[in-house]
Amino acid sequence: MEPSKQFALRLLKWHREKNTRQMPWKGEKDPYKIWLSEIILQQTRVEQGWDYYNRFITTYPTIQQLAAATDERVYKLWEGLGYYSRCRNLLATARLISTERKGQFPSRYEDILVLKGVGPYTAAAIASFAFNLPHAVVDGNVFRVLARVFGITLSSDSTEGKKYFTQLANQLLDPRSPGEYNQAIMDFGAVVCKPAAPLCTGCPFQRTCKAYQQGKVEEWPVRTKKTTVKDRWFDYLVIENRGRFLLRKRIGKDIWANLYEFPLLEGNRLSPKAVLKKAEGLGLLTSGQYHAVNISPWHEQLLSHQKIHARFFDVELGPKAKKPEGYVWVSRKKITELAFPRLIAKYWTHRR
Ligand code: ADE
Repeated sequence: MEPSKQFALRLLKWHREKNTRQMPWKGEKDPYKIWLSEIILQQTRVEQGWDYYNRFITTYPTIQQLAAATDERVYKLWEGLGYYSRCRNLLATARLISTERKGQFPSRYEDILVLKGVGPYTAAAIASFAFNLPHAVVDGNVFRVLARVFGITLSSDSTEGKKYFTQLANQLLDPRSPGEYNQAIMDFGAVVCKPAAPLCTGCPFQRTCKAYQQGKVEEWPVRTKKTTVKDRWFDYLVIENRGRFLLRKRIGKDIWANLYEFPLLEGNRLSPKAVLKKAEGLGLLTSGQYHAVNISPWHEQLLSHQKIHARFFDVELGPKAKKPEGYVWVSRKKITELAFPRLIAKYWTHRR
């Protein structure tokens, strides 16, 4: 038998007989729900995405209902998941499908691939799970399984590596049950051929696995790119006046677009005095008209390429409070309905 047939057969046998992994979107056929789960799972672990997925489909059971929702409510539901451009693309795509296609999700791979926020991996997942089309998924799990079993040392970060793994994955795919095959290889990568401490004993590929034979299981897949992480220092002014707080919505291309925040000064570990002076210079505070009542320690949040260090200045204003341009005064109650970066949301729950 061809090696590729052998691989798919063993994998599917494992899936049917041994795979007990449960997930709320498993076996789902509705392309809207599959698409939603896959967008949530881009950059998010299954355990973390699970509750978000359930809340989304309960709140918006159809794509038209999601399309009709306000940005504010959808961002609030997304709050804490990170990578907020996913949420922006989710809404844009839902609205496009709702208005241009009467809510009908596209059913051809090429038409799925052009949707905002959908790349080759997500398009293959939707095409195979919802429409049983023969497109192999190639995600981190698949790279790892194939690199180990077939002994491929091309880096999965390189263009050449990506092309090679994609071709191999498509050769191995069982064309009779692409959806089931794709689900099987992802689950196998997650529960058996794990990044650390894989379960080689009892693995159906143990005898033929190149990495196992050569003692390279921990070293493969090979990765070359090292991501550099940049430190940024954020000072937030939590300015209160008669139970209301100054806020603005972040816009532009930087992190956290469309989320809300308190007035922010970014600097290089400024002294508290320098922060307040700078705020006065920017017209956010007026000398003699405020009290800085508390300064928090630094809080940290690690993003993929940045480490954010944030500090919060609790400031109360005197009776002559002004509203700086671009900001709004927001009540505590309204604040609970808005979406914030996780770091601010955490600060806020501890403050009250
Ligand atoms: N990661 C992304 N989509 C997945 C799926 N359908 N099953 C398992 N892991 C996944």
